[in-house]
Amino acid sequence: MSNYHIKQFEEYFQVYKKSVTQPEQFWEEIAEEHFYWRKKWNKVLSWDFAKPEIKWFEGAQLNITENCLDRHLHSRAHKTAILFEPNNPNEPAEHITYKQLHERVCRFANVLKEQGINKGDRVCIYLPMIPELAVSVLACARIGAIHSVVFAGFSATALSTRINDCDAKMVITSDGSYRGAKTIDLKGIVDEALEDCNGVTSVLVAKRIHSEINMKEGRDHWLQPLLDEAYKDYTAEIMDAEDPLFILYTSGSTGKPKGMMHTCGGYMVYTAYTFKNVFQYREEDVYWCTADIGWITGHSYIVYGPLANGATTVMFEGVPSYPDYGRFWDIVEKHKVSQFYTAPTAIRALAKQGNAFVEKHDLSSLKVLGTVGEPINEEAWHWYNENIGKKKSPIADTWWQTETGGIMISPIPFCTPTKPTYATLPFIGVQPTLMNEKGEEIKGNQVEGRLCIKYPWPSIARTIWGNHQRYKDTYFSAYDNMYFTGDGALRDEVGYYRITGRVDDVIIVSGHNLGTAPIEDAINEHQAVAESAIVGFPHDVKGNALYGYVTLKGSSEGRNQDNLRQEINQLITDRIGPIAKLNKIQFVEGLPKTRSGKIMRRILRKIAASEMDQLGDTSTLLNPEVVQRIIDDRL
Ligand code: WTA
Repeated sequence: MSNYHIKQFEEYFQVYKKSVTQPEQFWEEIAEEHFYWRKKWNKVLSWDFAKPEIKWFEGAQLNITENCLDRHLHSRAHKTAILFEPNNPNEPAEHITYKQLHERVCRFANVLKEQGINKGDRVCIYLPMIPELAVSVLACARIGAIHSVVFAGFSATALSTRINDCDAKMVITSDGSYRGAKTIDLKGIVDEALEDCNGVTSVLVAKRIHSEINMKEGRDHWLQPLLDEAYKDYTAEIMDAEDPLFILYTSGSTGKPKGMMHTCGGYMVYTAYTFKNVFQYREEDVYWCTADIGWITGHSYIVYGPLANGATTVMFEGVPSYPDYGRFWDIVEKHKVSQFYTAPTAIRALAKQGNAFVEKHDLSSLKVLGTVGEPINEEAWHWYNENIGKKKSPIADTWWQTETGGIMISPIPFCTPTKPTYATLPFIGVQPTLMNEKGEEIKGNQVEGRLCIKYPWPSIARTIWGNHQRYKDTYFSAYDNMYFTGDGALRDEVGYYRITGRVDDVIIVSGHNLGTAPIEDAINEHQAVAESAIVGFPHDVKGNALYGYVTLKGSSEGRNQDNLRQEINQLITDRIGPIAKLNKIQFVEGLPKTRSGKIMRRILRKIAASEMDQLGDTSTLLNPEVVQRIIDDRL
């Protein structure tokens, strides 16, 4: 028998030991006992990090939606699967049962087929957090189409890049979206994006805000009438365990976004198993993750992980500040939420509002708290623990990545003693290690290094869509036979891990990964700009904010700087989205460079963080004189 649900700390150690000494046997038991397969595998695992090639449950057949929907129909047909909480608190919440969700997914699957979408085709989903988003994701999975969800805060340019990168045939969107007191014209953004996307033959449009929009004859279709006419059942497509399930883009240090590709079998097993244990989920619980399905957290821990466990998962359309900063706590009270999973940036923003909003609400239903997306600082951890968890609900500080598919380092609540700011111990089956800059493994405790993983786990991304070489270069080339995470970490005296942050040119702003290169590319498009460099600096709510150093072309030096700042941020908003806007823009005469012409970001980072005493030796620079001027004029 497998230990599907770990309840004690000693048990964690036993199970962990088995998972790393006999990984294939361990995962085979979990997979066999807790999931529905159409056909069993021939081989549990084959892997080679040098190629890299990783396969789990090869030869097995399944459909993930049969695990998320069909198999619950006899015992949980009338249980709420998705609890939709609209942006407007006066609009009633919608309880979608497993039976209803099954039917909605099947109807949608039939619509996709009628529109000519087949197994293996890519479908881009650009929707707000409304039920159609989860339904369309599952409908793609049901017919074997590969979904690529793009967060509906990205700009038209960012959207078209992602559509073209994976050659999507279809886009699913809505007339618009609500975001607090604002509405956003999503369809307008899609129309603009599609001017550059010749491969898209149809667009399905959900009605949400009932705005006037353009519908392009022959290409655009209102979704609801098609769903109404579609048949309410659809026999799930049989997929191989290693067939692609989805592509999800994440920022890289350089160039265009990376389309991380996840496959059906391993992803299902790992997200479901982590969900059960990290959230200590029990049948009667109401689970809420505040992320957007446009990010990996939403894929794994709003949709697939919870539904594979037959859970009730809350989907919230709105924002934490609308109609006021008590909204999260209002929802916890109203739906008696048991598990609450959010990002440190949200915790900091809410803590800043004081405790009056919290105290108005009964939070006694909460049992487990979670955080994800960036390091949580000590102050935020304590505020969360004391005011939300009332020191009774353990905090699972979960470290993981789009690439890892599921949670990798985290306490198991009620088992692992927590420690503020520490993600603590590896999850079952995960073998982390720290490496030094010479490429050696750092043994022992109380050490710091670069975080790598030594052995495959079932939900590791299998490739970057269309660019396997980049997959290899980014994750498997820094160290032999290791997956390199891009993060730094330290290991304390008992072996607990604390993630210290990115060691590459990715900056995490409000929990969103942003590569510096695409932002610099956007800025450099401005006709007045000669060159730019972006760095992160500490920000009390966002974790990091962006600081841009910009040099102007000679002819533009006299221009009004405030106007230029606005224009630059507008350009970033157009090219990437408002999340990538710069907090500070300093116009400088020159950027500090090495003799080989590389911008010295380390120096710029120190200046942005006001750590001028830590600049180190600048005399070897090509242009040391610019440093003092940058310091004198810093914002
Ligand atoms: C960071 C989000 C510290 C880290 C699931 C990682 C964290 C990147 C934590 C991935 C955490 C995520 N503590 N840092 N608990 N969780 N990170 O792909 O730098 O959006 O590499 O996946 O977020 O972000 P992504």
